[in-house]
Amino acid sequence: MASEGNTNVLLASNRGPVSFIHADDGSLTCRGGAGGLASALAAVPSEVDATWVCAAMSEADRAAAASAPRGRLDLAGYETGTVPVRLLDIDPHIFAQAYNGIANSTLWFVHHMLFDMADQPVFDAAFRQQWAAYGAYNAAFADALAEEAGPGTRVLVQDYHLSLTPGLLRERRPDLAIGHFSHTPWAPPDYFRLLPDDVAVVLLTGVLAADYASFLTARWAEAFLSCCEVVLGASVDRRRGLVEHAGRQTKIGVNPLGVDAASFRARADQPDVRDRMAGLRSLVGGRKLLVRVDRAELSKNIVRGLLAYRDLLRRHPEWQGRVVHVALAYPSRHDLDKYREYSAAVHRVGKEIIDEFGSPDWDPLILSVDDDYARSLAAYRMAHVAVVNPLRDGMNLVAKEIPIVSDDGCALVLSREAGAAVELGEDSLLINPFDIQETADALHVALSMSPAERKARNSRLAMRAGAHPPGRWLADQLAELTKY
Ligand code: G6P
Repeated sequence: MASEGNTNVLLASNRGPVSFIHADDGSLTCRGGAGGLASALAAVPSEVDATWVCAAMSEADRAAAASAPRGRLDLAGYETGTVPVRLLDIDPHIFAQAYNGIANSTLWFVHHMLFDMADQPVFDAAFRQQWAAYGAYNAAFADALAEEAGPGTRVLVQDYHLSLTPGLLRERRPDLAIGHFSHTPWAPPDYFRLLPDDVAVVLLTGVLAADYASFLTARWAEAFLSCCEVVLGASVDRRRGLVEHAGRQTKIGVNPLGVDAASFRARADQPDVRDRMAGLRSLVGGRKLLVRVDRAELSKNIVRGLLAYRDLLRRHPEWQGRVVHVALAYPSRHDLDKYREYSAAVHRVGKEIIDEFGSPDWDPLILSVDDDYARSLAAYRMAHVAVVNPLRDGMNLVAKEIPIVSDDGCALVLSREAGAAVELGEDSLLINPFDIQETADALHVALSMSPAERKARNSRLAMRAGAHPPGRWLADQLAELTKY
């Protein structure tokens, strides 16, 4: 395919930096994208000529794509950023099968090891249809990227939605320098091999078609290398971080992602946040504040976190009336039954806690599912203790964001299975996320910690959390791609 573009950096991700909604009068309104991936990629330096290729995820996104030539939106007029975006209008049926069926119900579950294995997964004819759709969806990205890329363009492909894109793009444009970044964990070989053999092979060779494939921690990179050895029989040089397979060499790297401390602190000091802090203060009174903030996502382990809080109140009744747990769980992936069921389970356990311990003058738990970013930041600033207990998590930016904006120092109860534990483990209270009593004990220790120790630990956590801001994370990957 002939190249038309002159862009020298291309970013590709399923979800982009903006989403659209139809306002009441039918007009299209643009909103900034949520999530760590979007804010990390938005750190592309202004001197770089970049375009961001992403999928239209709703009818309103599709209408916006249709309103611009080839779906190319110039976002300069929006406060959400200045990187031009190309929104791909992929057939809604193909998109749903690829996004819900393969990316979120299969690959997300594999990499986070979420299957309830007596029943799942089942690879049948319906799966094969979804798998074909995933191929078509990845090919739509490869087509658009091939078209946008000028000579020598560096392309950064993001995440498990786009595992096949590096391979499909290389077929179309062998001249490009291609990177792939995984924001999730990578499954170890025994678990990865749940996938049908041909699917496992295609996923690995898809990623290996990149010149540089990188991960958030050494543990996820090592799991990928082991899969390459076991599934493909590839030869792996761990010292140099190289995989050789089918006549190609791929460099494997680790690029941890952190927070841009200065701009995050500035955002957390806006009037909307201070306003929410006043509201929270009146709810919490002089009690200790225990906070969690997550997407209502299976891997975040919210139910066990609440069970641990209940266990704390039962085994340490001295905390009754002296602590308030604010649990903010934002809606996520509600097209999937499992996610709706999970949100229902979170509510059920929350209600049980309120029924068991609530009294006219004490709300033990404030559980909210409304999307209110300013309120999350207010809770971050005021928390005495934060619980971040995922079953498995690529990094977990909440664990890094809280110490950066904490007003009085926050004690962090952190899952050893979160990528963030590598950098933050020393100054957190690390837990096995499946062990409710251990988690409850850690909550007790954290709530009992002296203000001086909390502050001292918090300032060390904040230093580490700010060590790899998105700008550097992105620049390091782009630098790797100049070597090809
Ligand atoms: C989290 C993960 C990313 C993933 C994103 C997708 O942020 O860390 O790896 O790309 O979720 O979420 P979505 O809401 O777009 O399905």
